[in-house]
Amino acid sequence: MAPAKMATAKDATNLDHIPGEYGLPILGKTLELLKDPKKVSDYMYKTYGPIYRSSAFFQKSVSLIGPEANEFVLMDRERNFSSKHGWSPFLDKLFPNGLMLRDFDNHKAHRRIMQVAFKTSAMKTYVSHLNSGILDSLKKWESIDDLHFYPAIKDLTLNTAASVFFGVPLGPEADKLNKAFMDSVQAAVAVIRYPLPGTKFRRGIKGREFIVNYLRDQLPQRRGSDAKDMFTVLCNATDEDGNGYTDDDIIDHMNFLMMAAHDTLTSSFTTLIYHLALNPEWQQTLRRECQNLGLGPQDDLPYEKLDDLEMIEWAFKEALRLNPPVPSIPRRTTREVVFKGVTIPANTPINISPGFTQKMEEIWTNPENFEPDRFSEQRGEDKKHRFAWIPFGGGAHMCIGLHFAYMQMKVFMYHLLTKYEFTVEDGYEAEFQIMPIPKPKDGLPISIRPLGETSPIEETA
Ligand code: HEM
Repeated sequence: MAPAKMATAKDATNLDHIPGEYGLPILGKTLELLKDPKKVSDYMYKTYGPIYRSSAFFQKSVSLIGPEANEFVLMDRERNFSSKHGWSPFLDKLFPNGLMLRDFDNHKAHRRIMQVAFKTSAMKTYVSHLNSGILDSLKKWESIDDLHFYPAIKDLTLNTAASVFFGVPLGPEADKLNKAFMDSVQAAVAVIRYPLPGTKFRRGIKGREFIVNYLRDQLPQRRGSDAKDMFTVLCNATDEDGNGYTDDDIIDHMNFLMMAAHDTLTSSFTTLIYHLALNPEWQQTLRRECQNLGLGPQDDLPYEKLDDLEMIEWAFKEALRLNPPVPSIPRRTTREVVFKGVTIPANTPINISPGFTQKMEEIWTNPENFEPDRFSEQRGEDKKHRFAWIPFGGGAHMCIGLHFAYMQMKVFMYHLLTKYEFTVEDGYEAEFQIMPIPKPKDGLPISIRPLGETSPIEETA
């Protein structure tokens, strides 16, 4: 099929034939969505069915709900949906030209080169950086009295990223990079999207400038180097035909990769730890799984053992089901599209919803409960439909960092579970903000003690 002509026209505005409602003038349903996205989607789905029009974040759009819709949009066999134009309104100013902001043949060509940075040989090097970075950070947590998990895991992830992504050890250079990066990530979700003095957005633009200059200065020495951090690997990566990236490509891809990895990892690890603190029997089961690997107390978790942590993987999948870091995936139609008998015009912003599908009662038993074994062979609830569980998306744009995410999660959980026990106060219940990315509003106060200090679980086990 010939490549679809890119949609650059204005958004389609006449969606009146599609069931739905827009909400308030201008703001649409933005405030309701920020407050309680589940309530809004439940209401819209029950009232209007699996395809409805709505308005939020200054955009009219059409939502397509359920596993069939997820498959239709993500597999996109006819090139009906642009990821670039779906994500641009949110990401283009701070993270332009990242992989998600490319479509079809151009996207494919760029993705083939990036795959080099995620091959087994590259992953094996990252895993050793992750082991040492995570252990160091955990030791520091021991001395913090009022530890809050969310800011602590954010710091840990930033510090490990400085070494894994850029090959920069902890110190003033890493601190500067981390700060610039945090400013740009926070600006990506700022409400005011113009660089007025004193705004998050302006700090974000400055942060981006700092990182761009840093990367550009470093590029000449990284090209041809055999260092194994992700930046250097991308500088030297080529596809099977010998095509590589230009300097500008590398800068854009590195910026985007850091952004795509950071908040998703911190959000999903926080949900996982919260549920394991509330469910000590699961925490203990996963601890046993780690102890049964037969490694010594000072050993790293080697790459070859990652697949043995099967139940830890179920628990992570369950955390990603309950609180997917990307609760809604946007696209824009490149041409008129018909789905389930409803015609969606060309140039319509649309979205699918991992957040909603992953809690549909038609698919999941007790959808609000934390039950990691729903992913076991026996229960296999995720097998009911290939697109029922989609925290990493699917199809051409499926998360390229998926295995990296599992790897970092397992290394983190291995060291945490084999050396520490963690609890929240009796009766504690976290309130999660869901949009734009799930996080506990109070940062998740948590107590982390070295194992064996006073461990009622160990004593009774
Ligand atoms: C739990 C962690 C993560 C989650 C839940 C997650 C989720 C996602 C989702 C849903 C998409 C697809 C978006 C779409 O189709 O529009 C995506 C794409 C992407 N992710 Fe992740 N991600 C995670 C971690 C990472 C990490 C660690 C990296 C890098 C090391 C990464 C890099 C990317 C990139 C580059 C893309 C764009 C792929 C493309 O367009 O071809 N992600 N991610």
